[in-house]
Amino acid sequence: MESFQTTEDNWDAKLYDIKHSFVSKYGNSLVELLNPQQGEKILDLGCGTGDLANKLYESGVEIVGVDKSQNMVEQATRKYSQIQFKVQDATNLDYNNEFDAVFSNATLHWVQPAIQALHAIYKSLKQGGRFVAEFGGKGNVQTITDEIILQIKEAGFEFNKKQFPWFYPSIAEYSTLMEEAGFRVTFAQHFDRPTPLDGVNGLKNWIEMFGNHLFDGIPDHTRDEIVTNVENNLKGILYKDGNWIADYKRIRVIGVK
Ligand code: BEZ
Repeated sequence: MESFQTTEDNWDAKLYDIKHSFVSKYGNSLVELLNPQQGEKILDLGCGTGDLANKLYESGVEIVGVDKSQNMVEQATRKYSQIQFKVQDATNLDYNNEFDAVFSNATLHWVQPAIQALHAIYKSLKQGGRFVAEFGGKGNVQTITDEIILQIKEAGFEFNKKQFPWFYPSIAEYSTLMEEAGFRVTFAQHFDRPTPLDGVNGLKNWIEMFGNHLFDGIPDHTRDEIVTNVENNLKGILYKDGNWIADYKRIRVIGVK
C-alpha cells in the first residue's frame, strides 16, 4: 500500500478498500518473492488496510504492520484484530535488529528521502535479514501525470516540482541507494504492469484517491475541469473496452543485510 503521503493524514481507508483493493491483490506475487518461512518475524512496511499482512499471518509468520496513516492503521486493526498494526514513518522506524524480513508493497514511491528509509529498514533487520519491496519505478504512470501537469499549466497555474509527491527511481538509482545503506543487492527488476482502473470513472477515481497534491492551491471547480480535460485527452490512449488502463511501471528489489 501507499500511505506515506504527507504529514497530514488525508487517506480515506474505507474508500481505499472499496475502490483500490487491486493494490494488495497485485502484492500477492510479491509475497511469493518474499517466500516467507513459518516462524519468521516480518515487518510489513506501508501495510495500508492490512490485507497482505493478513496473508502473511495466515502463512504462519509473526507479522507487524506499520503505516504512516492513522486512518489506514485503524481500518487494518478493525479488519484483522489478531495482528499488531502501528503508526510509524518509514524514515524513522522504531526497530533494531528485530526482523527476518522487511516487506513493502506499493509504498516506497511515497517515501522521501529514500536513503533515510533505507537506513531505517536496514537497522530494523537482523543480520542476514532481507528487504523485499515493490513500488513505482522510473516512468511510472507518466502518461497520466504528464497530462495532469500539462492541463494544470494550460489552466494558468504554475506547477512546482515540489508538488510532485512521488519518487520513481530506476533500478540503478535505487540499487545504489540500497548499497549506500549497507545492503547487498541480490535482485533488481524494472517492468511494465498495465493496471486496469475499474469502470468508466476509473481514472477520475484514481486521481481523486492518489493525486490530490498535484492540485494544491487550485480551486475545486478548476480542478474538476482539469480532470475532465485529462480524461478527454487520454481516452484514445489509456481507455480500452470500458476500462482505463494506467501505465504502471514497477521496480522490485531484494537486499540482504
Ligand atoms: C503506484 O502504486 O505506483 C502508485 C499508486 C498511486 C499513486 C502513484 C503511484
